[in-house]
Amino acid sequence: MLRVEGLTKRFGRTIAIDRLSFALQGGEVLGLLGPNGAGKTTTFLCLSGLLRADAGAIFFNDLRLGPERGRTIALIPETPEVYAMLTVWEHLAFVARSAELAPGWEERAEELLERLELSAVRDALGQSLSKGMRQKTLIAATVLAEAPVLLFDEPMIGLDPKGQRELRELIVELRAAGTAIVISTHLLESAEALCDRLVILKNGTALASGAVSELRQRATGDRTLEDVFLEITA
Ligand SMILES: Nc1ncnc2c1ncn2[C@@H]1O[C@H](COP(=O)(O)OP(=O)(O)OP(=O)(O)O)[C@@H](O)[C@H]1O
Ligand SMILES: [Mg+2]
Repeated sequence: MLRVEGLTKRFGRTIAIDRLSFALQGGEVLGLLGPNGAGKTTTFLCLSGLLRADAGAIFFNDLRLGPERGRTIALIPETPEVYAMLTVWEHLAFVARSAELAPGWEERAEELLERLELSAVRDALGQSLSKGMRQKTLIAATVLAEAPVLLFDEPMIGLDPKGQRELRELIVELRAAGTAIVISTHLLESAEALCDRLVILKNGTALASGAVSELRQRATGDRTLEDVFLEITA
């Protein structure tokens, strides 16, 4: 469904992503792992079209995507920025209108607010929300828009335990519905639980990729994903 070929991004003399290629099916969750500075966020910004890559191509169902691709590939960013003067509900209404959702979207929106414990703040302005509430507002709005490819940059950080569980359940449901999902995370246990496949990135290069079980087999002996990660990125 999604194919990335030779994605490259430089910042001055730093090569943040170096000819990165990977593919992803609908209904598959790919974990993007890597130490700080590996290039995960830069990859997401380039995929979602918020940052212009220096080279490479992104294909969706074999069609090459142009820069306007927000309705195909949606990003839930690391730092949640909401509109200060829109309420939580207005964020959802804004997305519903710009994504031209079919009438009846309100029911799904209400359900998402309920699950993410935002119902009590549905009429609160963006500027008055806590960081976790901002993050959940963006999760609700992005999930509502039903893009076929969803990117989550460090989604668990900043969410309370209930929020983390709801998000995990949402991701499992979206996967079952055929959404292609990429998640970056430093939480290896949650990567292991959620992801069908992993790509381990360092200095913008994919050092290893495969199912968790395949990556484990590469390491010597009976190893945890943490052992494998540390060995590969050492
Ligand atoms: N706007 C920028 N200007 C200059 N260099 C940048 C910029 N954004 C990222 N970089 C550099 O690109 C590289 C990749 O950074 P990136 O933020 O993608 O890493 P990351 O894998 O998301 O790390 P983290 O786990 O800390 O979130 C780093 O060397 C970083 O310093
Ligand atoms: Mg990052």
